Amino acid sequence: MKRIIVTGGAGFIGSNFIFYMRQAHPEDRLICLDKLTYAGNLSTLAPVMGDGNFRFCKTDICDREAVYRIFEEEKPDIVVNFAAESHVDRSIENPSIFLETNIIGTSVLMDACRKYGIERYHQVSTDEVYGDLPLDRPDLFFTEETPIHTSSPYSSSKASADLLVLAYHRTYGLPVSISRCSNNYGPYHFPEKLIPLMIINALHDEPLPVYGAGLNVRDWLYVEDHCKAIDLVIRNGRVGEVYNIGGHNEMQNIEIVRLICDRLHKPESLITHVTDRKGHDLRYAIDPSKIHRELGWLPETKFADGIEKTIDWYLKHEDWWQPIVTGEYRNYYERMYGNR
Ligand code: NAD
Ligand code: TYD
Repeated sequence: MKRIIVTGGAGFIGSNFIFYMRQAHPEDRLICLDKLTYAGNLSTLAPVMGDGNFRFCKTDICDREAVYRIFEEEKPDIVVNFAAESHVDRSIENPSIFLETNIIGTSVLMDACRKYGIERYHQVSTDEVYGDLPLDRPDLFFTEETPIHTSSPYSSSKASADLLVLAYHRTYGLPVSISRCSNNYGPYHFPEKLIPLMIINALHDEPLPVYGAGLNVRDWLYVEDHCKAIDLVIRNGRVGEVYNIGGHNEMQNIEIVRLICDRLHKPESLITHVTDRKGHDLRYAIDPSKIHRELGWLPETKFADGIEKTIDWYLKHEDWWQPIVTGEYRNYYERMYGNR
């Protein structure tokens, strides 16, 4: 039985990780720390809220006192840090909160791990720390040895956190690991990101805003495959190591949007090309051979199946995304906890 702190568990990947872990390791105690920013949605966690082996703490990972208190109470064996500001476009508008949460928050968590002792601190990072690859060199991939070379304030903050994590390992001997994953998709994906935004806009017959020509390439992985990979790394991955995670599934943005139109029987005339993102990364592509070789991980969900499941999920779960579109979900915490 492990006691595992999961930060950012009310967000997209963190919540999927909590659901996955509940099934895979029901004996483990999961403690979710989440600040519930605009991207955190407590109603997502409703299915596990009553579970005796699960605790939710509305906590900012930058709040040292609160974080230390929880470590003291829970004595965690493992910390998995998903908490982050995660949207590139928002980081271009306002970088400072990205530096706060993604860098300072990471250091506070690791200080708590040093103070109270830990079996493993795991940092959930991103392939965006490697910058981008040219569109005309399909032979190139990011390996764990690819130099850090960031483009956006978001990726720079994630890269800074990765450097700190490796520094805490070297300087203090903290037992850390890092995973760098490609773009995820699946249930509970916040509707400001490409795939859910396009699904929901298409359902409303609203314009589908493609940045520039839409030729940028992302390497899409079904979120459950990411969760399985992290579970393997925290249990069997080597301390002090970085593991790339990706499914060799590169697609142009425009291909994804066309596919969504087709599946929802919507006309491609909804596609609207808008001004390109500043500093827009051209192509991400992961070489996942290390995690395959060392831990036996392989992606299990093919893109054709994953995108079908995802679109179906959004069609069946309007009750989840409609309150986000209207902003009503922000009141959920107040209703649940306001008078307690
Ligand atoms: P998300 O934006 O959906 O969720 C982030 C969660 O963190 C939210 O619940 C939010 O409330 C919480 N949070 C934010 N600031 C906090 C703070 N100061 N203290 C406590 N909680 C805070 O993000 P996501 O897409 O689920 O990404 C999770 C992690 O995975 C991030 O670290 C991200 O960099 C990384 N990642 C994401 C992708 C992807 O495709 N989404 C790919 C690779 C890596
Ligand atoms: P996003 O989901 O924001 O993930 P990331 O920037 O971290 O890869 O965007 C995925 C791709 O889709 C990226 O190339 C930007 C593009 N994009 C659009 O063309 N239109 C949109 O409205 C959004 C949100 C993204």
